[in-house]
Amino acid sequence: MIILGIESSHDDTSIAIVENNYVIFNYKISQVNVHKQYGGTVPEIASREHYNNFYILLSKILQNYNLNKVDYIAYTKKPGLIGCLQMGKIFAHALSKILKKPLIPVNHLDGHIFSVLLTNVKTEKKEIKYPSIAFVVSGGHTNLYYLEDKKNKILIGQTLDDAAGEVFDKVARALNLGFPGGPVIDELFFQNRLKNLKKYHLTKPKLKTEFDFSFSGFKTQIINIIKNKENNEIDLIATLFEKTVIDYIVFVVKKAITKFKPKSLIISGGVSANKYLREQCLLLHSNTQLPLEEYTTDNGAMIAIAAMLLIKNK
Ligand code: KG4
Ligand code: ZN
Repeated sequence: MIILGIESSHDDTSIAIVENNYVIFNYKISQVNVHKQYGGTVPEIASREHYNNFYILLSKILQNYNLNKVDYIAYTKKPGLIGCLQMGKIFAHALSKILKKPLIPVNHLDGHIFSVLLTNVKTEKKEIKYPSIAFVVSGGHTNLYYLEDKKNKILIGQTLDDAAGEVFDKVARALNLGFPGGPVIDELFFQNRLKNLKKYHLTKPKLKTEFDFSFSGFKTQIINIIKNKENNEIDLIATLFEKTVIDYIVFVVKKAITKFKPKSLIISGGVSANKYLREQCLLLHSNTQLPLEEYTTDNGAMIAIAAMLLIKNK
């Protein structure tokens, strides 16, 4: 089964072709540089960028792929920025009409969950063992799910304020490290993790609900620390931030594993590119499934694979 997947819910425009779980190609244009100057995504500009980018990506695809081979057209239905989602929907509808192929609307979060099944090796097969705990952690979401089986997922925890990726971005901005913050802070963490971090202290939140998260307090604490910082200690502060936030996430996910005893653990979304998080999650469960790094952030391939499972599980 060959599916064309379209993603445009936020600031990435992406079109992919996926055959079963093998990614034939995953083309993507990121708008990060366009929105950087505004300190965050501007919805109206993002929608217009998607319009231009779809044209660029489709022109590239038409040069080297025969779209008549595609069986279905999948696109992100929700959640996301309304104008951006509309662009994807219109584009998907047009392709579906022209190619005479059925349309499959997909939930963006299912895309992230099932991105762990994507492979760049044609003969490699991957599957999820149920029940599973799935943690979708990105710039917009921090959702913890119990996946009972192929069809039923239960949200057991979520952030009560900022998303995890959002706090990486906000802390990076406070530390003058640029945007997006995750990759820069992660790099600094690996350069400095063996240094003595005890000079500063960050308190982890204590919530009444077992599997929810709170991240906004980290940003406030960092801002208070840097009021008195010495300039050369930014690296140490960023390192302590990553260590504390990831240890906190791992602590909550571990509680869910102890309670639900899942057969697999899925971690996906932009923040799942974090090397320390990946390292710690592999220690948490003998069957931890992570997406390949290129499929951690928003992409069309994850929309195609989620659509494939919808069709197969019908
Ligand atoms: O999934 P994504 O592309 O977009 C949303 O759906 O939000 O995730 C982007 C987020 C950004 O906040 C970025 O800082 C974060 O993922 N991110 C990371 C890393 N790489 C990207 N956060 C922590 N460590 C990383 N290595
Ligand atoms: Zn996403």
